Amino acid sequence: MAGLKIDRITRQFADFKALKEVSLDVADGEFLAVLGPSGCGKTTLLRLIAGFDKVTDGAIWLGNRLVSDSRRHVPAESRGIGVVFQSYALWPHMSVEENVAYGLEVAGIDRDHRDRRVAEALELVGLSTYGNRPPSSLSGGQRQRVALARCLVTEPGLILLDEPLANLDVHLRASMEEEFRRFHERTGTTMVYITHDQAEAMALADRIAVLDHGMLAQVATASTLYREPATEMVAGFVGQGMVLPIDILDTCRAGSCPVRIFGFEARMRCQPGTGARAGAKACLRAEELAFSNDGISGISGTVRRLIYQGGYFRADFHPDLSPETSLEITVPEPATVDAGARMRVVVRGGWIIPADAAN
Ligand SMILES: Nc1ncnc2c1ncn2[C@@H]1O[C@H](COP(=O)(O)OP(=O)(O)O)[C@@H](O)[C@H]1O
Ligand SMILES: [Mg+2]
Repeated sequence: MAGLKIDRITRQFADFKALKEVSLDVADGEFLAVLGPSGCGKTTLLRLIAGFDKVTDGAIWLGNRLVSDSRRHVPAESRGIGVVFQSYALWPHMSVEENVAYGLEVAGIDRDHRDRRVAEALELVGLSTYGNRPPSSLSGGQRQRVALARCLVTEPGLILLDEPLANLDVHLRASMEEEFRRFHERTGTTMVYITHDQAEAMALADRIAVLDHGMLAQVATASTLYREPATEMVAGFVGQGMVLPIDILDTCRAGSCPVRIFGFEARMRCQPGTGARAGAKACLRAEELAFSNDGISGISGTVRRLIYQGGYFRADFHPDLSPETSLEITVPEPATVDAGARMRVVVRGGWIIPADAAN
């Protein structure tokens, strides 16, 4: 087992910085997801941790061993890290067992010892009875489990997974998520799981690190990312929050502030120290907005559309003070409003995005 410490690493390609001063601590035995859109630097980060690539600046520690900095580079094969990729690339001419045994064979492990470890690894991924089968006879999910077994058999202290489920259909993905979670519970191996899929990150990880244009935007539990996003990007990317302009009317007391939003006064959750400033923005969720019961108070505007979501509707509401802005509001079934209705909307929550991050 090994914890991982990443200390202000930068990776520059020509004049482009794919990673900028990223710092991250992963505890021994933790399951951490790295989440971000395509091109934000996830694979670059994984390659640096695994030792497939060298850092431009900063340092990486595995446990108390320095494995990367601008002068030192411990090669991948000496790091004791297992890697599972999106494309599982099994040898087609070898059986499942032979695929899993290959790494041990190369490492010169004797036959008996090798057979025992292969059997254990196949057991862990639930493929004990598939050892003699060729990979071509397995489903996509089973092949990804063979790839996982091939990684486990070398007993790595840290496993890195780069979008391992991206090639599988939705149905299979859910059952593989369950496999990964169970595997982690059983073995306590430190895992860093890379994905662009927030639902996958939330289903699997203890904590999620959100990468945005090569910079770490926030590292937190799924619930904190959702309720208290540190930046506009996190607010929009995790749970598709609405990011809206507000006026902060007073300084924060006991975790909330009075604000004005499209002419309506509300209280929103905030960080201690939050005070009035220009350009402030808040993150709002559909469930924090509701149509006003009295029809007198609230943001006035028009409902443009009503979209059925199964059990409830999502109303698309445009405030009179900012008609180009669309607010999404959850409306229970049966719906009490129609498209085209003139309505007022009250704000029952919201999170003020911290100043230093929202730029
Ligand atoms: N070897 C390389 N040379 C130049 N640019 C690269 C190289 N590897 C990655 N990049 C760039 O770095 C950025 C991050 O890439 P990557 O880490 O693969 O993103 P992700 O895995 O999040 O989709 C992209 O803009 C990509 O084009
Ligand atoms: Mg990638």
